[in-house]
Amino acid sequence: MSSLLVDDIGELVTNSAGEGAGEPLGIRRDVALLVEDGRVTWIGPARDAPAADRRIDAQGAAVLPGFVDSHAHLVFAGDRAAEFAARMAGEPYTGGGIRTTVGATRAASDDELRATVRRLRAEAMRQGTTAIEIKSGYGLTVADEARSLRIAAEFTDDTTFLGAHVVPAEYADRPDDYVGMVCGPMLAAAAPYARWIDVFCERGAFDVDHARAILACGQAVGLGVRVHANQLGPGPGVRLGVELGAASVDHCTHLTDADVDALAGSPTVATLLPGAEFSTRSPYPDARRLLDAGVTVALATDCNPGSSYTSSMPFCIALAVREMRMTPAEAVWAATAGGAAALRRDDVGRLRPGARADLMILDAPSHLHLAYRPGVPLIRQVLHNGVPQCRP
Ligand code: NIG
Ligand code: FE
Repeated sequence: MSSLLVDDIGELVTNSAGEGAGEPLGIRRDVALLVEDGRVTWIGPARDAPAADRRIDAQGAAVLPGFVDSHAHLVFAGDRAAEFAARMAGEPYTGGGIRTTVGATRAASDDELRATVRRLRAEAMRQGTTAIEIKSGYGLTVADEARSLRIAAEFTDDTTFLGAHVVPAEYADRPDDYVGMVCGPMLAAAAPYARWIDVFCERGAFDVDHARAILACGQAVGLGVRVHANQLGPGPGVRLGVELGAASVDHCTHLTDADVDALAGSPTVATLLPGAEFSTRSPYPDARRLLDAGVTVALATDCNPGSSYTSSMPFCIALAVREMRMTPAEAVWAATAGGAAALRRDDVGRLRPGARADLMILDAPSHLHLAYRPGVPLIRQVLHNGVPQCRP
């Protein structure tokens, strides 16, 4: 068994409340952390550190759990830079561009799709993301959804079947038939590669009855529920997610008091995706209102070629602090432990004995710098399953 000691940690974010200062981050100072067989096995004062086969000197810097990006659409082809430019010139975002990416994705080979996922996964890792969820949703045929998930499963355990992203053009005048197909042969082909099912419940995508039917079919074959909800306007998506016991409802940009109340009384996480509001020039969700109501909040990138082409969790943290009234501590927690909660995982998002040794060493003395120094590459080193990754 090989061991690795991360020594001389100035500030360790454990996310284990009660373990240290700075609720909810559980900050410990001047400690060392031992990794054995990909797991954290010991955390304690640096002077008591056990001997180890290898040592990384953190040089007094901050060490955090790796980011858990619980919402990303990485299986696609092409980009939509021109659509972004048009939005910045005043065009609204409607989700209509999804069909453009569907066309490009269907035309791509498996190897082209795999290369894009690999490139974006590596890009995210360099920015501290050690766990990621990856959705399908740009195939929208039985074969293209199944292959999207098969490729996604090469990169993560948290794969999500999003056959109900939009109704594809060939079904435009018969959405009931498309929903029947999603619940029938498409789900059967996708389920072996998926842990989750998701629906874009929004005007112009799937109404609440279709969304409920699709999510129930997924639940019946053992998939966990997540929902794209209340992104473009108010609607029933958030309450549908709560009703079905969703692990997470995502976007939550337009919420009524009833939506907030429903979330507050439930185990469902509200996942906020500020990269989407940034890239669509839309109002940001009110994170403060959710937090003050007691809702568990996660932050994720929504990385996709249309509404949010960023893989950067530090960017999302900076936006959440500057634009959504989250404290830096709340934003860091939401991007780590919050993402883990949204994926119902207890092995990532925290640093404590038994946890996966997924962590990052910053080029900074404190987690505060992630929001304080926006746009700066502050991630000095990343350990994934205890293995040091290449320096950026
Ligand atoms: O989460 N809103 C639905 N799906 C994606 C956007 C997809 C796209 O525009 O290609 C989202 O924002
Ligand atoms: Fe999304």
